[in-house]
Amino acid sequence: MNIVLFGKNGQLGWELERSLPLLGNLTALDREEADLCDLAAVQRALNESRPDLIINASAYTEVDQAEKEAEQAIKVNALAPGIMAEESRKLGAVFIHYSTDYVFDGRKDSPYTEKDPTNPLNTYGKSKLMGEENVRQAGDSYLILRTSWVYSLRGNSFVNKVLQWSRQNKTLNIVRDQIGNPTWARSLAEMTSLIIAQNNPDLYEHVRDKCGIYHLAGSGYTSRFEWAQHILAYDARQSEQIVESVQPARSEEFRTPALRPLFSALDCTHFDNTFGLQLPSWKLTLELAMAG
Ligand SMILES: NC(=O)c1ccc[n+]([C@@H]2O[C@H](COP(=O)([O-])OP(=O)(O)OC[C@H]3O[C@@H](n4cnc5c(N)ncnc54)[C@H](OP(=O)(O)O)[C@@H]3O)[C@@H](O)[C@H]2O)c1
Repeated sequence: MNIVLFGKNGQLGWELERSLPLLGNLTALDREEADLCDLAAVQRALNESRPDLIINASAYTEVDQAEKEAEQAIKVNALAPGIMAEESRKLGAVFIHYSTDYVFDGRKDSPYTEKDPTNPLNTYGKSKLMGEENVRQAGDSYLILRTSWVYSLRGNSFVNKVLQWSRQNKTLNIVRDQIGNPTWARSLAEMTSLIIAQNNPDLYEHVRDKCGIYHLAGSGYTSRFEWAQHILAYDARQSEQIVESVQPARSEEFRTPALRPLFSALDCTHFDNTFGLQLPSWKLTLELAMAG
């Protein structure tokens, strides 16, 4: 099986580049090899590789910056995935794409299912929702996996930010009114590989039978405040922390260019019922991730 992966340097893409070679011949691309703002380059990359499976882990994920760069966010998050879906249909390839809990407005008080109405509050969420719609219109055998609060121990994730703040500040103020499911990039990549392995051979037909949107995130949900407390507790180098107290804060105390949904936890029952799989609890996964 020939696989093309877009976004190999992102949190999820980096993990996928390590798990996908078990499943086939992988061509992993970064921005230099295929800039998603250049739709012809995306088409070219796919026509050259003629994959059986296309996985898109790339995205414009700068939520605040997207308010100023809507055009770029729309190209990367909406137009490019639409082209990938169209090309995958022409090539007879399966397409796996990721979306976000930020397609919801966060006004619900129980976890969102795939049937709940979307209503994104910011440009990033709107561009991702447009991407979902473009994939649904153009695709044939595709999965859109909506996930939330993705982190890795590399780069600029919330986990690394909390660890960094804990070494620089005696008090941390962390919002308690934003609720979601922390999702370790590695477990999401492994789950993606498991779905592919489980539905092989005849992946195209299997995925076409099940195609659509699924919620897939760490089990259980929490606030950023509680998440931060666990990050500090699982820190393997606690002796480096100078933090003495973590205080709960409200989102309105931190004005940001983009509004965030307050309650955006995802209900992953549909994924579990369809594939017989679920991601472990966010706490267990965080402990594992931080054990190195
Ligand atoms: N992070 C979260 O909390 C979160 C939450 C919910 C859903 N998601 C979704 O989960 C998926 C994976 O997210 P992630 O956290 O792994 O994202 P990430 O770490 O921000 O990685 C995104 C990747 O996309 C690449 N990219 C951005 N613009 C590009 C362009 N014009 N051309 C080519 N590549 C481009 C980036 O390239 P560079 O390395 O060159 O910048 C980066 O490697 C995305 O679909 C995202 O929307 C993420």
